[in-house]
Amino acid sequence: MTQQQTTGGDVRLTGISKTYGSFTAVHPLDLTVPQGSFFALLGASGCGKTTTLRIIAGLEEATTGTVSLGGKDITGLPAYKRPVNTVFQSYALFPHLDITENIAFGLRRRGVKSVRKQVGDMLELVQLGDFARRKPHQLSGGQQQRVAVARALINHPQVLLLDEPLGALDLKLRRRMQLELKRIQTEVGITFVHVTHDQEEAMTMADTVAVMNGGRVEQLGAPADLYENPKTTFVANFLGTSNLIEGEIAGCGTDIVVSAGGGKLRLPGDRCSAPAVTGGRVLLGIRPEKISLAHADAAGRIAEGRNRVTGRIVDSSFIGVSTQYVVESPAGRELQVYEQNIERDARLVPGAEVVLHWNPAHTFGLDASQSKLAGTMGDAGVETVEDVS
Ligand SMILES: Nc1ncnc2c1ncn2[C@@H]1O[C@H](COP(=O)(O)OP(=O)(O)OP(=O)(O)O)[C@@H](O)[C@H]1O
Ligand SMILES: [Mg+2]
Repeated sequence: MTQQQTTGGDVRLTGISKTYGSFTAVHPLDLTVPQGSFFALLGASGCGKTTTLRIIAGLEEATTGTVSLGGKDITGLPAYKRPVNTVFQSYALFPHLDITENIAFGLRRRGVKSVRKQVGDMLELVQLGDFARRKPHQLSGGQQQRVAVARALINHPQVLLLDEPLGALDLKLRRRMQLELKRIQTEVGITFVHVTHDQEEAMTMADTVAVMNGGRVEQLGAPADLYENPKTTFVANFLGTSNLIEGEIAGCGTDIVVSAGGGKLRLPGDRCSAPAVTGGRVLLGIRPEKISLAHADAAGRIAEGRNRVTGRIVDSSFIGVSTQYVVESPAGRELQVYEQNIERDARLVPGAEVVLHWNPAHTFGLDASQSKLAGTMGDAGVETVEDVS
C-alpha cells in the first residue's frame, strides 16, 4: 500500500494527572511521544498505563494537565473528534460481520461509499487477503488481532493506541505478532503508543520505552540505553535481571572503588547515579550475562583489572543457549550468572567454589537508599493490584 502521510505531530502530555478520590493513579506527568515513533508504556499491573492511554484517547478526563497533538491543545476534545484510534486487548470485532465489513466499518460510518480499494490495501498490509469473507470466529487469535489493527488504521489516525493487544495470545504467536506490528508501524509511519507489562515485548517493538511505576514514569529511553544504564533499582530489576551488590565507596576518580563482600570492585564514575563520596553507600549493578564464571582452581588465569567476586554455586539450570547459575557469595546471597553454552567447564556444578569476574566498564552504580528488591517478584509493589502510595 502507499505510505499514508500524516500531517500531525508529537503527542505531548503536560502535567497530566489522574486521581480517584484520595487515590492517585497517575502523578503529574510530562511526556512527549515523537511523531512516527513506536512508543511503549511499560509497567506492572496497576501502575497507571491504561489510565494514561485513555487520557490520550479522550476516554478518560485528566484531573490536571493538558494533552496536545502536533502543538494543538486537544484536552477538551471528545474522543470521537480526536485523530486517535485504540486497539484493546479484547479485539471487539463485530461477530456477525465478515472481515471486510469489520475493516470497512469506520469508512461506512463516515459515509464513504467506495471502500474496496482501501479495505484491500489494509488486508494486504495485515496479510489477510485470503480471509476477506470469513467471520471473526473463523480466525485465530493473532489473525483477529490483525483485523482489529486494520480496522483502526483504515481511519488514518495520527496516533494508534494499543492496550495490551497481544495479551490473549500464546507466547509463540505473541512473539510473531510483535514483529508483525512493528513491521506494520514502520510501513504506515503512524505514531504507535503501546501499553504492555512485558519488558521483552516493549524492548523488541519500541523505539522509546517509558517505564512506569506507581503512577510515575521512572525512566524513559531507547531499549538498549534503559537496559545498560538503569537509573533506579526498579528499572534495573524490572527490565531484565540485575545483580545489585551493596558496598561502601572507598575512593573516587575516573573509576569509583567500592568495598563490598570483603573485596574491592570498580565502576566507571560516569555510570554512577549515586552521590560519589568516599564513605558513602552505593549499589553496584551488574547484568548476569556480563559475568564470567571460573572454577576456583582456574582463578589464576583471570586477566588483571577485572572485577572479581568469590562464591559457591548453589543452583544451575541448563536452558539450551545458556546455563543460569545462582552463586552464593559474601557480596550477595543469590548472584545470577548466565553463561553461554559454548565450552562448558564440567566442574561448574552446584557446590563448586568459583570466581565471578567481569569487565568493570559493565558495572553501573545506583543510590543505595532505594530498596534492592524494587521491581522484582519479591517486591510488594509489583504483585499487588493496589499501590497505595
Ligand atoms: N474508575 C476507577 N476508580 C478507582 N480507581 C481506579 C479506576 N480506574 C483505575 N483505577 C486504579 O488506578 C490504578 C491504575 O489503573 P490502570 O488501569 O491505569 O493500571 P494499568 O497499569 O493499566 O494496569 P494493568 O496492567 O493491570 O492493566 C489502579 O490501581 C486502579 O485500581
Ligand atoms: Mg491496563
